[in-house]
Amino acid sequence: MSLESLLQSEPDPLANLANASGLLAQSLEGINWCGFYLLRGEELVLGPFQGKPACVRIAVGKGVCGTAAARRTTIVVPDVNRFPGHIACDPASRSEIVVPILQDGVLRGVLDVDAPEVERFGDEDRAGLEKFVETLAPFVEWERL
Ligand code: SME
Repeated sequence: MSLESLLQSEPDPLANLANASGLLAQSLEGINWCGFYLLRGEELVLGPFQGKPACVRIAVGKGVCGTAAARRTTIVVPDVNRFPGHIACDPASRSEIVVPILQDGVLRGVLDVDAPEVERFGDEDRAGLEKFVETLAPFVEWERL
């Protein structure tokens, strides 16, 4: 199923983010967590996700998620033990990719995907997940979340 077909007939932003996280979890091999952190003031707050319960609040600028949000650029971490300031929600996670969500130049949050193996995420994942976020953003009424 494509992301567009999953989201196009539903206006509820929470439902759409929840289904987007479900679609990712079904589509990506070898991951142990995927989901959204939503920007609330100066903090990222946990949104819909698939995986074990995770850290709820991350300050912008902290951890991989907060750094990607502050820089507004995707961060691929081949080995989380080598990323100073990495926030370990699940010790099983060994590599990670975080893609900022921007809509019309406004930062709305980040997409975070974790894997239990080092070097899980490469250029193809980066391109695919950036495209995923670009496709998703217009289907979500971020102000209503
Ligand atoms: N590792 C992330 C925190 C979020 S969890 O991995 C779900 C970070 O350093 O920002």
